[in-house]
Amino acid sequence: MSELLLSTWSFGTIANAASWPVLAAGGTALDAVVAGATAIEDDETVDCVGVGGTPGAEGVVALDACVMTDPNRCGAVADIRHYPNPTAIARRVMEKTIHVMLVGEGAEQFAAREGFQQRTLLTEAARQRWLKWRQEHGPNDPNGYRGWVPPLNVEDAARARGNAGRVGGAPDEIEDRGQAASHDTVSLLARDRAGALAGGCSTSGMAFKVPGRVGDSPIIGHGVYVDQRAGAAAATGNGELIMGVCGSFLVVELMRQGASPRDACTEVLRRIVDRFELLPNHQVAFIAIAPLERGGAWASAALRPGFVHVVSDERGTRVEPPHFVLLET
Ligand code: GLY
Repeated sequence: MSELLLSTWSFGTIANAASWPVLAAGGTALDAVVAGATAIEDDETVDCVGVGGTPGAEGVVALDACVMTDPNRCGAVADIRHYPNPTAIARRVMEKTIHVMLVGEGAEQFAAREGFQQRTLLTEAARQRWLKWRQEHGPNDPNGYRGWVPPLNVEDAARARGNAGRVGGAPDEIEDRGQAASHDTVSLLARDRAGALAGGCSTSGMAFKVPGRVGDSPIIGHGVYVDQRAGAAAATGNGELIMGVCGSFLVVELMRQGASPRDACTEVLRRIVDRFELLPNHQVAFIAIAPLERGGAWASAALRPGFVHVVSDERGTRVEPPHFVLLET
């Protein structure tokens, strides 16, 4: 059986539950990736993707996403403020335009023309997180944006509370450094019955981001990169770190040069450690799959403890720690 599905963080179980039946029924890897991302985007309890995502500094939720199956087949959207399913819109950009990426108003006009339905993205729970942040750290703070530090992602926040076994707690339970914590991405990689690979990424981006900020997730080569000849990789974590090393592209290039998925992911994390002054709450993780004709191995690796991946294959679906963690804390 060649079908394989990987997603990031424990909320990836929501994605895998929607994606695996697509693969098991003989569907394409791309169909599976879009189905999984859409399921998380529609789930209001996930506070960093789609509806229910944490807003930016001005209280507006802005979504980013991309899909990719090969260097000549990719699509992306960024700064989507009125549509809940940016991954499906990104796929439509890939399939229906000569472009790779649409942003902001133009992307929303395209979504409207394609028949996507609008939905309010800001939930009451997310608004409350934003109000709390704004009171304590926002632009009204005398320090303004200078007082801003990236919040922990949901899993790491649980760990910081000494609650490592209970990852992905409810958003209103998650607090750290006086900020509601919400910063991460669902990244998905799939391999279908025919052995084809696909990848996708969806996020509301860094919590309380400066309006207009776009991270790695929708940028081809940063959040996701797929080349049927060399492999597939996807990233999650602090987008600014991932973008500085073209993270997913670099993982795939290292696999092209012969590295295993595990070694390729690890090498890119080492590059990040080498070139950035890390904050204690910086986290990055990669998932990667080699093409079947190169052995078909897969792996995940994380900068710090706290990350988990979700894998589905012929043995079922499992939430697992990564194959490699670079730093001890
Ligand atoms: N990795 C998601 C972001 O930084 O926006």
